[in-house]
Amino acid sequence: MSNDLFTPVYLRFPFISNLRSLVIYAALTKNAFPLPLQRKIFSNINYCFMKVTVVGAGAVGATTADNIARAALAEELVLLDIKEGIAEGKAQDMMQTAALLGFDTRISGSTNDYKKTAGSDVVVITSGLPRKPGMTREELIGVNAGIVKGVAENILQNSPDAIIIVVSNPMDTMTYLALQSTGLPKNRIIGMGGTLDSARFKYQLSQHLGASPGDLNAVVVGGHGDTTMIPLIRFATWNSVPVTKFLSEEQQKQIIADTMVGGATLTKLIGTSAWYAPGAASAALVKSILRDEKKLFTCSVSLNGEYGQNDICLGVPVIIGKSGWEKILDFGLNEDEQALFSKSADAVRNMNDVLKTL
Ligand SMILES: NC(=O)c1ccc[n+]([C@@H]2O[C@H](COP(=O)([O-])OP(=O)(O)OC[C@H]3O[C@@H](n4cnc5c(N)ncnc54)[C@H](O)[C@@H]3O)[C@@H](O)[C@H]2O)c1
Repeated sequence: MSNDLFTPVYLRFPFISNLRSLVIYAALTKNAFPLPLQRKIFSNINYCFMKVTVVGAGAVGATTADNIARAALAEELVLLDIKEGIAEGKAQDMMQTAALLGFDTRISGSTNDYKKTAGSDVVVITSGLPRKPGMTREELIGVNAGIVKGVAENILQNSPDAIIIVVSNPMDTMTYLALQSTGLPKNRIIGMGGTLDSARFKYQLSQHLGASPGDLNAVVVGGHGDTTMIPLIRFATWNSVPVTKFLSEEQQKQIIADTMVGGATLTKLIGTSAWYAPGAASAALVKSILRDEKKLFTCSVSLNGEYGQNDICLGVPVIIGKSGWEKILDFGLNEDEQALFSKSADAVRNMNDVLKTL
């Protein structure tokens, strides 16, 4: 074994074979690394030790987990499903990509054994039925409410400090249910819907403008439903220039309409609900929490007078960081936008009322 100071530490000490021992070694002997590497390791040290659980190893859950692993967001990732073997199988399949893709995250699967999820920092709930062509998200409430409530309770028993991201539909109502049933502080329950809808809005805008989606800023607020979401085109910009400058009234209406039925269009084409963008959107929220990025996303969160609403979870622009959702941003809606927001809230509130009848 070479002990040359210029030989990288992991070659001098081959017992340092995994990420955890490497980071511990680095913590104990900072000087073992050249300065640029020290900076990299120590800036990453917090999220190296993070644990994430994804409940539901179906299309969206597995894609979320895959994105988390590829980006090496956590040290440990648990996939849990009620169907025997599916989570273990998908976890093993993903682990077999580690050597090819070069990540160190340890992924394991579990058939409904929540002990394996213990101590998770973030939990993403994707368990539940997806919609079929012609169905609305709202039609899933009967089955999914029971699933989400049971899952949230199990999660909390094993990971009392977790931040929970709810993906299952009807998402705004499932987020409200998770908040009510767990009694967690509101900042720790985040509904993922507007993040996806905003990405779909950017996609539609990019098609009409011939722009890179990454150059666009655009936000969808309100409920995560075909008729309740509100793409805020007045605020959308192309590298800080309002997109309305480049689009006719007719184009703008088309973009809004296509964004609103973005999910339904894919469900019709694929035969079931989409998963690539939902998985990427869920993982983006996980990343912003674990790395405390303070990124701005539209998420469904508990409103206490913001945007004129109370006792409801609805999509608004929020800062996502290590405490969950940390701040709601008031975009200053005009009269028409506020009227749409209130109408959207009424529809989601009606759906929440259905919970009382189940
Ligand atoms: N919020 C969003 O933006 C968004 C986007 C896409 C899909 N969704 C929703 O996400 C959910 C999952 O969609 P999908 O396409 O992955 O469906 P899917 O059928 O592929 O996967 C769902 C998985 O949940 C599992 N499951 C069911 N009950 C469970 C329980 N009690 N505990 C653990 N696992 C359980 C199933 O066995 C299945 O593997 C659906 O409700 C869908 O409507 C939401």
